Amino acid sequence: MSETHLLSNKNTDQNFASLMINDSEVDKKPNGKSIVLAIESSCDETAVAVVQGGSKVLSSEIASQTEMHKIYGGVVPEIASRKHIEVVEGLTSVALQNAGISRNDIDAVAVTFAPGLIGALLVGLNYAKGIALSLNVPLIPVHHIRAHIASNYLVHEGLKPPFIGLVASGGHTLLLAVDDYTEYRVIGSTRDDAAGEAFDKAARALGFGYPGGSVLDKLSSDGSFDAYPLPRAKVDGNPYDMSFSGLKTAIINLIHNSKQKGIEIDIPGLAASICMAVSDTIVPRAVAACKEYNYSKLCVAGGVSANSVLRSELYRQTTEANIELFVPPISLCGDNAAMIGSQAYFEWMSGNIADMGLNAFATLPADYDHQFISK
Ligand code: KG4
Ligand code: ZN
Repeated sequence: MSETHLLSNKNTDQNFASLMINDSEVDKKPNGKSIVLAIESSCDETAVAVVQGGSKVLSSEIASQTEMHKIYGGVVPEIASRKHIEVVEGLTSVALQNAGISRNDIDAVAVTFAPGLIGALLVGLNYAKGIALSLNVPLIPVHHIRAHIASNYLVHEGLKPPFIGLVASGGHTLLLAVDDYTEYRVIGSTRDDAAGEAFDKAARALGFGYPGGSVLDKLSSDGSFDAYPLPRAKVDGNPYDMSFSGLKTAIINLIHNSKQKGIEIDIPGLAASICMAVSDTIVPRAVAACKEYNYSKLCVAGGVSANSVLRSELYRQTTEANIELFVPPISLCGDNAAMIGSQAYFEWMSGNIADMGLNAFATLPADYDHQFISK
């Protein structure tokens, strides 16, 4: 590690000398008492949490922008960035107050640096840099997908890698081999849309607004899973890759055709059919991945993992296959900062900290090379 951690690796301007973080602070490793301030701003939720020792959540605050983006039927990136910048400081004060700590008690600052909306990420990242710099504590970059998986460490005491991870959210649907807390291998992912997008677009076409997953989930309880025959796409090549764009198009066409012909849509039936089509695309692949790669545990996360049909199918099929299943409580399925604080502990333990040159990335695989961060 270089002697100093400047604004940029290449920047040697003496004016920046006062903006250095001491090596002694940066080289410190976490322990069970270490307090991490965690910040998440990758999409339309500003979230700040205080997490101790990687698993004790002292506070977790979320300011959701959903109501605002609802007007437009989806997230408007510039509005998201502007909203993050307005609320992040106030939310941090609330998080510290609710955790019963002051800024001087913070041992490290963790932040989502990828993947996500670039402007939105940059707001959280810059804010986190400011705090880390002013307190002279390490800055820990956290990958959003890894953090979703880490939400399980907060609630399942004793859960440890290795396991297969399944993340299904509004922006991602992928299967990962998690061999250690910071050792990831992507083994399959969607080739086009994420599972959450299929839910959101379907809900929007039905006039339920954004986001649509939880609305369709609730409606599905009164519907039949085979009310409508919806496609379960298979893609060539990697058997663990998935596709949801055909499903999305089929749902939209079905809704438009019914409206044009004046045919009444069985909305609970359609909702149930969508939930089952998504579940049929994901669950057998997750179970097959555990078997083929010889993992006895499956760890699920992301906004879509709140879906009741997906959860019950996961439970049923993993029980049959003798695979141990871990799912987070509904409150930790969606975006939050507690999960950032949890993953940050393990990144810090592995020495994956960043200097002030850290950038944000709209896309970055979960198995990125750590060397890449500070370059
Ligand atoms: O993880 P998340 O909060 O944000 C991203 O990282 O994308 O996931 C949001 C997604 C949205 O597409 C939302 O419709 C979906 O999760 N979602 C659900 C449910 N609750 C949220 N999808 C299906 N069933 C649910 N109960
Ligand atoms: Zn997410």
